[in-house]
Amino acid sequence: MNINELTDTAKTLVAGGKGLLAMDESNPTCHKRFAALEIPQTPELRRAWRELIITTPQLGSCISGAILFDETIRDRLKDGTPFVKATTDAGIIPGIKVDAGTRELAGHPGEKITEGLDGLRDRLLEYAQMGARFAKWRAVITLVDQLPSIGCLEADAHALARYAALCQEAGLVPVVEPEVLMEGAHTLEQCEEVTERVLRVVFEQLSNQRVLLEGMILKPNMVLPGLACPQQEVAEEVAEATVRCLLRVVPAAVPGIAFLSGGQPDELASARLNAMNVRFKGRLPWEVTFSFSRAIQQPALDSWRGQAASVVAAQKVLLHRARCNRAAHRGEYQTEGGLEVPLAEDGDRAA
Ligand code: 13P
Repeated sequence: MNINELTDTAKTLVAGGKGLLAMDESNPTCHKRFAALEIPQTPELRRAWRELIITTPQLGSCISGAILFDETIRDRLKDGTPFVKATTDAGIIPGIKVDAGTRELAGHPGEKITEGLDGLRDRLLEYAQMGARFAKWRAVITLVDQLPSIGCLEADAHALARYAALCQEAGLVPVVEPEVLMEGAHTLEQCEEVTERVLRVVFEQLSNQRVLLEGMILKPNMVLPGLACPQQEVAEEVAEATVRCLLRVVPAAVPGIAFLSGGQPDELASARLNAMNVRFKGRLPWEVTFSFSRAIQQPALDSWRGQAASVVAAQKVLLHRARCNRAAHRGEYQTEGGLEVPLAEDGDRAA
């Protein structure tokens, strides 16, 4: 493990107002999103969509790192350029999703465990040789009735910590993603209580596995009421609950927190991230940024719909969301009467 390299990469991933772009959907998930828009679910269109994303002009001014899927890191653009080269040429650090997805956890009805530790050491070495500099592993936590159970939390946290230690051994920065799902009717308070509990177990396990906190990124959920909860707090209240929770459990040595979007509407995700950076400006020990998939990709996918003629228009939509989220990381995202205030054309200024 090269401590300086890990620390530098982790810091760079969250610096300059930038954030991460998750484009690591597995093929079934990618196909689900395509099917909803009647886009044919073919390898050619998967590649075309990922090429559209990574070749978006100026994307690197907002996005520090892109999380790729195994198929993509081995793939090439239509002109033969390897995806990894296209990513680095765009000024974006290539990352890789390394978990193997979730399965039912034995003995725990309704709960999932993330798989993929077997053979991980060798896979990480291969990805590092291909040019990946960071990795992602996602654990999903269900918040319903008496769940999550301690058995599930400990199993997921242990796997996250084993993964993180293996990543650092291979010179990759681990993005540690414990996601409390938004599905359900739970309140903001219940989400805060469970998120705090989850993160305590995760950091205990990270410590047990001797993970270097300075060389990792935490990718948590925001603290939110469930999708079916009648009471939906405003962005400022979400920001308050989320940051209060994180301040209690995330050590200051961690350089950055990069939220997943979890299915939030894209503008709301930006507004909530912005509220955290406005309200707590100068008072946070870590950078607070984004690592969104749907909240960056979805409007562009809606615009593209698999049509070659729509590539340029979709890239503009994608860049717009990336800029909005960069603005939110800087606490400069603005809305008026529920509508986004257009960003200045110099939205690309260096931080
Ligand atoms: P969403 O932003 O769509 O939740 O995806 C983030 C992610 O990387 C999930 O693992």
